[in-house]
Amino acid sequence: MIDLANPVVVAAGCGGTGRELDALGALDGIGAFTTRSLTLNARTGGPVPRFAETPSGLVHSTGLPGPGLEIFLATELPWLVARGMRVVVSVTGASVAEHAEVARRLAQAPGVRGIEVDLAVPDARAHGLLDVREPFHAANVVAAVVREAQDLPVLAKVRSDVLRVAESARVVTDAGAVAVVVGGPQAAALPDGRPAGLSGPAVLPLALRCVTEVRAALPGVPVVGCGGITTTADARSFLDAGAVAVQVGAALLHDPTTAARIAADLAGGPS
Ligand SMILES: Cc1cc2nc3c(=O)[nH]c(=O)nc-3n(C[C@H](O)[C@H](O)[C@H](O)COP(=O)(O)O)c2cc1C
Repeated sequence: MIDLANPVVVAAGCGGTGRELDALGALDGIGAFTTRSLTLNARTGGPVPRFAETPSGLVHSTGLPGPGLEIFLATELPWLVARGMRVVVSVTGASVAEHAEVARRLAQAPGVRGIEVDLAVPDARAHGLLDVREPFHAANVVAAVVREAQDLPVLAKVRSDVLRVAESARVVTDAGAVAVVVGGPQAAALPDGRPAGLSGPAVLPLALRCVTEVRAALPGVPVVGCGGITTTADARSFLDAGAVAVQVGAALLHDPTTAARIAADLAGGPS
């Protein structure tokens, strides 16, 4: 597992480049920063609208826009490292080879603490990304990334299909992942019917169930819980269920200081 400063981590894609959060004091005291999912080449992202608010969360289909690896390595990564962040780089791609190439380059990049393979994109096919909904495909990607990552720990963010999450966790850890991130976005649709992910408070009970399923099936595997966390009590539920750490995502869009606040609360001891 990655050496975290504390168990509260910014979830992939929800902290911008980091600078946006830092301007608000929102990186102070967090356990680690997960970058948005990076691809080899720049991506403009999907068509707008990309978001729809629901009474209980956010429906999103960003198409994973990003600068591409070269620009990330030249600009965003050095800033995060200089800021003292433990940086986990999330990776995605259109093929197993693309994932492997990104991992190979990251293994040579100073300051990267770990790689998180994003196997949980609910609208992957719509955006030309590799569809890894079958655990078998997910395991192939993880094995390729682990091979290229050298000594970097590789976390696998698996699909939050509650009844298959333990199976997914088993195959990706067999393929070399040191930990699993469970409870990402649920498959959903935007109001106009385009495929999307649902995040936020609505998914918390599902994410928590994912954690308990994986803990029961694979007690030796470190689990990072993610999904709908907005309060310290939410985070405690995941930790009490056996997660070694939690990730905070969509809540940062409403209040960028959420992760920092939860980290400070937890450091203050039991409530
Ligand atoms: C706007 C937005 C962008 C996201 N981008 C990514 C991404 O680039 N890579 C990824 O693995 N997950 C991405 N996610 C999923 C989050 O990391 C997280 O797993 C998910 O939203 C569930 O947690 P939450 O309810 O706390 O947001 C994104 C979520 C949102 C809302």
